[in-house]
Amino acid sequence: MRKKATLQFADKTVDLPIYSGTLGPDVIDVRELVSQGVFTFDPGFVSTASCESGITYIDGGKGILLYRGYPIEQLAEKSDFLEVCYLLLRGELPNAQQKKEFNDRVTNHTLVHEQMIHFFSGFRRDAHPMAVMVGVVGALSAFYHDSLDVNNETHRELAAFRLISKIPTIAAMCYKYSIGQPFIYPQNDMSYAENFLHMMFSVPCENTRPNPLLAKAMDKIFILHADHEQNASTSTVRLAGSSGANPFACIAAGIAALWGPAHGGANEAVLNMLGEIGDVSNIETFIKRAKDKDDPFRLMGFGHRVYKNFDPRANVMRDTCHEVLEELGKHDDPLFKLAIELERIALEDDYFIERKLYPNVDFYSGIILKAIGIPENMFTVIFALARTVGWIAHWSEMHSSPEMRISRPRQLYTGATKRDFVDVNKR
Ligand code: SDX
Repeated sequence: MRKKATLQFADKTVDLPIYSGTLGPDVIDVRELVSQGVFTFDPGFVSTASCESGITYIDGGKGILLYRGYPIEQLAEKSDFLEVCYLLLRGELPNAQQKKEFNDRVTNHTLVHEQMIHFFSGFRRDAHPMAVMVGVVGALSAFYHDSLDVNNETHRELAAFRLISKIPTIAAMCYKYSIGQPFIYPQNDMSYAENFLHMMFSVPCENTRPNPLLAKAMDKIFILHADHEQNASTSTVRLAGSSGANPFACIAAGIAALWGPAHGGANEAVLNMLGEIGDVSNIETFIKRAKDKDDPFRLMGFGHRVYKNFDPRANVMRDTCHEVLEELGKHDDPLFKLAIELERIALEDDYFIERKLYPNVDFYSGIILKAIGIPENMFTVIFALARTVGWIAHWSEMHSSPEMRISRPRQLYTGATKRDFVDVNKR
């Protein structure tokens, strides 16, 4: 017996099918409602499942995050970012041969077309790196014409590899351009995270390699940020992709959506907030501001649309933060101490407890990145770098669905009713 919901309104009774997934809440299929002359209404999509997906599962009440069924804690501890990329894109962990082939293919696409260098010189040196990322990633579609046909699976796969491979190169170029240093080419004998730190911090006049512990921490940060179900930027990528837009344009749209401080821009905002708080003695004042409805200030790095328990990524991030600060001899880092105290005070405050506001992935990531030597304005760039694989996995999943169609929400119209034009000399 198929499950159904019965909706009664006006003089109508409508039976709506209910579907169950492998995990998580059931969904009520409301697609028939438009033929009954009504729409659902859900600004912010709080209660709306926009699609069917098998990539990532979140249980916000229990603080659970699974990539293709594997708990994020296990992947962060035992896997590496490129293996997680394989898992997200293909649905299974690779065997040794598959892993090597995948890694070799990523390595072969890390260079960008040499002419792309000219795009950077059009930006001011003090441009926010996210502005440069949006522009340069979107411009990839001006070069790679042999991976633009979204209806061709070979094109889609080639675009996925190009994006995963080139996004660290472009991200590092954004940083180098902002500090006036020469771009550093990727090295094929380095791991993904090691190569990124190399392109970020090496200079042509020295032959150095990144600190292996920092490379491991960077790799873990990439894993923790790789995907997160239908968040704002992933939904943006899906919406852009539903029109048939090319993959590079869709990822540029995702980067734009991620930039906001309510989303991926929060890690940069956390560091700015900790800098503004300055000292443990000021914490109470800022907690008060965060609770004041007349004050737009919010405690950045706290709260989440889905997690009403600890963000499991924040727990892993906090441990990694300890490791990195110990390794760098910065265990007395005042920012980290301030963050720990802010977290303790907030978690004992009724306002945060009642609203189930816990630290999210962004609360500790910025402290690690700053300790590694990455400037605040690059934090969201690194989030975008890691999330590119998640965006591409969802974009590919959408294109592989026979049910794919253009996404086109409706509205509750509250504007002027029909009226006739009035000539300007009669107004
Ligand atoms: C990410 O979606 C994802 O999965 C995103 C992400 C991913 O991996 O893709 O997890 C990454 O974006 C993490 C979130 C990073 N953003 C921040 O840290 C910014 C600070 N957080 C808030 O802006 C907020 O918590 C959101 C945006 C994250 C969630 O907003 P919601 O779900 O719309 O929640 P809400 O605004 O309705 O808040 C519910 C209540 C409100 O109070 P009341 O009106 O009920 O009295 O909680 C309050 C809010 O005022 N509240 C906060 C708060 N977050 C929510 N009050 C103070 N400080 C905060 N941080």
